[in-house]
Order: sequence, then C-alpha cells, then structure tokens
Amino acid sequence: KNNAIAIAIDGPAAAGKSTVAKIVAESLSYIYIDTGAMYRALTLKAIEENIQLDDENSLISLLERTDIKLKQSEAGQIIIVDDMDVTAEIRSQKVTNHVSYVAKHPIIREEMVKRQQSFATNLGVVMDGRDIGTHVLPNAEVKIFLIATVEERAKRRYEENSKKGYYSDMEELKQEIEQRDLIDSKREASPLIKASDASEIDTTSLSINQVAQRILAEVYKIIHD
Ligand code: CDP
Ligand code: CDP
Repeated sequence: KNNAIAIAIDGPAAAGKSTVAKIVAESLSYIYIDTGAMYRALTLKAIEENIQLDDENSLISLLERTDIKLKQSEAGQIIIVDDMDVTAEIRSQKVTNHVSYVAKHPIIREEMVKRQQSFATNLGVVMDGRDIGTHVLPNAEVKIFLIATVEERAKRRYEENSKKGYYSDMEELKQEIEQRDLIDSKREASPLIKASDASEIDTTSLSINQVAQRILAEVYKIIHD
C-alpha cells in the first residue's frame, strides 16, 4: 500500500486547476505545488528589471539568482521571491499577459522542472500546471487533464475578478485566455498537451466540488487497494 502518491493536474487557463488541486491536497494532507506561480514570479521580476522577454540568456541568469519559495500560510499558499511576498502581484494582468513568453524558453523550463521535481520527493503531492503529467512528474500515479469551454473559463475569471472588486471586460478576458492557451500549446518545449495516460475531465458544467470528488475517486482506487 502506497499512501504518498503524486497527482498531476494539467489543463488550459482558468479550467479550475489550482482551486481543485488545493481541495484535493487538503483532503489528503498532501502538499500542493502551483508551478504556474513560479513562471509568474520570474515574469514579474523580469518586468521589474526591464529584461527583454525574448532574451533567453538574460532570463536564465535572472532565474539563477532568484530564489522562489512556495509557503503554506494561514491564508493559503504564498509565493516568496527573494524573501518578498509577491502572492498578489504575480496575478496582475500585466504578468498574466507576459508569462507565456517567459515560459516558452526551453532553458527556463528545464531549470523550473528541476526545482519542481526537487519539491516533490518522497511526499504526497498535488502539482498543477501545463506539463506536469508529461514532463515534471511523468510517473505520477494519477494524472488529470481539466478542460472547459473558453466562454465558461472567461466567465469564471470574470466572477473571480468581480469578487475581488474589479470589473473586467468579458471579451478581453476571453481573448487573453485564448492567446495564452495558443502560445502554451504551440511552443516547442513541453507544450500544453494531455498526457496519453491522463484522464480528461470536462468541467464546463461541473461544480468545484464535483471535480474534486472525481479526482479523489481516482486517487482512492490507488491508495486503498
Ligand atoms: O492560473 P492560470 O491558468 O491563469 O495560469 P498559471 O497556471 O498561473 O500559469 C501561468 C502561465 O505559466 C501559463 O499560461 C504558462 O505559460 C506557464 N506555465 C507553464 O508553462 N508550465 C507550467 N507547468 C505552469 C505554467
Ligand atoms: O488554476 P486555473 O487557472 O486552471 O483555474 P482556477 O484559478 O483554479 O479557477 C478559476 C475560477 O473558476 C475560480 O474562481 C474557481 O472558483 C472557478 N471554478 C468554477 O467555478 N467551477 C469549477 N468547476 C472550477 C473552478
């Protein structure tokens, strides 16, 4: 019986990966690793330091001198970059609009994957991103690929933004999501793609809890036998 498995959750933007991953991790007392936050953190720093996002050499040297930590706090997971809490800043529209250009560089991905794998040794882990089932944790016992229509995903972001108190344009959100998915899917290095052994869940008309329960059902098939 193996009680500490790895769960990989991938899929396009705003499909519900992080929300559901957190619930699954909490239910199992596993650690949760948000790999998108790491690419966002590097993007934030690159923008602050005026680094050209197509300059792979400058980006890798920036990454090499950047410490990125994911920490558990009472308010949930926080992202610490060089001892600064950037949890809120990395979600800005500016970072969102630029992150895919940073994440497409093969050398950057190689270093990120190394760091992500080092977080996941010998522990029960839920990790979400774009290449977890295909590259970061290819031996994960459970692999999930979450999808939803782009209209539904834009609506979810819209509602998330309204709750935070700001209005966003639905059409702009939709375009941003489509643009990011396109860059993430078309890139040469570990593109966004469903692993051949992943289970696809269309979440368009499912609640957060329904999605979490489906994933947990797959997990229990493995850890209870
Ligand atoms: O939460 P949301 O879907 O908006 O994005 P995220 O998971 O925070 O990821 C932000 C971006 O980082 C993605 O659009 C990808 O460009 C990149 N990413 C990646 O390339 N590989 C990962 N494993 C995770 C994120
Ligand atoms: O991590 P990812 O970008 O894939 O998505 P997310 O940030 O976890 O989810 C985007 C939004 O969709 C959140 O506000 C969730 O509460 C919501 N959501 C939902 O309404 N229904 C689902 N089945 C899953 C997520």
